[in-house]
Amino acid sequence: MPASSTLTEQLATLGVHLPGWPKEPEGDEPDNWIERGQAYAEGVRLWRAQLRNAPESTKGVVDQLISHLHDTGQLGVWDQLVYGAIKPEVQGSPDFERWQACTKLIRSSALTPAQLLGITLEVAREQRLAAATYGLKRLLKEHPGINAQQRLQLCSELVATANTSRLMADAKTSAVDWNRAVELHEQMAGLLATAVAGEIPSKSSEGAQPTEGMPLLIELDAINNCLGSKGVHGHAVFIQICREKLPALLQSWTGERPWIVEVGCSREIIEGQNSTVQLLTLAKELELPFAGIDLDQANIEALKRDYKDCDDTWITGKGEEVLRTWDKPIAACYMDAYDFWHASHSGLRQQVYKESYGSEIDDAQCHSMHLEAACYCSDLIPSGGLLGLDDTWMENDIWEGKGALALPWLLDQGWQLLSAANRGTVLLKTGSRQ
Ligand SMILES: C[S@@+](CC[C@H](N)C(=O)[O-])C[C@H]1O[C@@H](n2cnc3c(N)ncnc32)[C@H](O)[C@@H]1O
Repeated sequence: MPASSTLTEQLATLGVHLPGWPKEPEGDEPDNWIERGQAYAEGVRLWRAQLRNAPESTKGVVDQLISHLHDTGQLGVWDQLVYGAIKPEVQGSPDFERWQACTKLIRSSALTPAQLLGITLEVAREQRLAAATYGLKRLLKEHPGINAQQRLQLCSELVATANTSRLMADAKTSAVDWNRAVELHEQMAGLLATAVAGEIPSKSSEGAQPTEGMPLLIELDAINNCLGSKGVHGHAVFIQICREKLPALLQSWTGERPWIVEVGCSREIIEGQNSTVQLLTLAKELELPFAGIDLDQANIEALKRDYKDCDDTWITGKGEEVLRTWDKPIAACYMDAYDFWHASHSGLRQQVYKESYGSEIDDAQCHSMHLEAACYCSDLIPSGGLLGLDDTWMENDIWEGKGALALPWLLDQGWQLLSAANRGTVLLKTGSRQ
C-alpha cells in the first residue's frame, strides 16, 4: 500500500469501507470551503454511525491500523481528530479521552479551513461551546478575506448546530443555572445580530476589509466569558490578588519592567481552563511583559499563532530548566505545569510526558519539578511579588498536589500564604530585598 494513501483507502484495502473525505483543492482552484466544512462534519457523523454498528472484528481492524499509524507518526491531525471524536461510541473508550483530544487538536495549524470548520461543528453539536467558539474565532481571524455573507453563514451554522436547547432542559431540572442558560442564548442571538448587521452595508462593497470581522470576535469573546464563569479555578484568585498587590510593587519599582510568567499554559479549549489568556490580559493592564513557558511544542506554537498580534514571549521547554537561566525580574509567576496523577489523563497528554521525561505522568516528578521551578523563581521575584501554585491543597495537615514539596519550602523561606482557595495557592514574597 503506498505510504501516501489516505486512511480511508488503507481501511478499504483491509475490507473496511467508510465514506471518503472531501477533496482539498490544489493551487488557486475556486473554493467553497464552507460547504466542504459541512461535509467534513457530516462525515464524522457517518463514520461514527457506520463503525458503531460494525462487527467487533471490523472495529478491531480499524483500531489496530489507526494505532499503528499513530505510533509510527503517520496519522494526520484530521484522522486523529475524527477517531478521537468517535472512539467512545465505537470502542467504548472513556469520554474524557474524546474531549482532551478534540479540544487540543482543534488548535492545530495542520487543519485546513474546511477541516477546522468540520470539527468546530462537531464540537458545537456536542455542546462543547468553548471549543466551538474558539474554532469559529480561528476561522474568522485566520481568513480575513472572507466576506460578510460567509461570516454570517459561519455564525448561523454554529448557532444552529450548537445544541443549546439541552441547556434549557437542564435548567428546568435546576441542575444548571437558569441565568447562565439565558445569558448564553442572548449572547448567541447577539452574535447572529452582529453578523446580520455586518452583511447589510458590505453587500455593495468590493472585497472584505481586514477589520470587518472584529465585532464578531468581540461577540465570541463575550460568549467565552459567559462559558468561563461556569467554575472557579485557581488562576482566578491568583489574578485577583495580582490586581490588588502588584500596583504597590510597581509604584516603588525602579529597574527594568518585571515580568508576568506562566509555567504550564492552557493546552485544551475547555470551559474555565483559560489561565493563559487571563494572564495576558493582566500583563497588558499592568503594562508588563509576559512570558509563557510550556513543555509541549504544539501548545506553544498554537499560542504563538493565536496571540501573534501581541508582543509576548513564548518558550517551549521545561519550566524548571528555563527558569534556571532566566535573568529578568519577575513580578508574578503562575505555575500550573507537570500534571499530578489522576485516572483521567488521555493518551495524548501522556504522550507529551513520555517524549519529554521518558515516562508517563508520575507524582514524584510533578512534585520535584514544581519545587525546582519555585526555587529559581524565588530568587527572581522581588519582595512584594507573587507566586501562584495551582492544584495544591492541604490534606490532614500535609500539602498535596503540585506544590507538595514547593509549598513547604517556600513557607520555610519566609513566603507568606495569602490564599489556598479553589485548590490553588497564592504566596507573597516578604522581606526588604527588591
Ligand atoms: C494543567 S495544564 C495548564 C493549564 C493552564 N494553566 C490553564 O489553566 O488553562 C499543564 C501544562 O503544563 C505543561 N507542562 C508539563 N510539564 C511542564 C514543565 N516541566 N514545564 C513547563 N510546562 C510543563 C503541559 O504541557 C500542559 O500544557
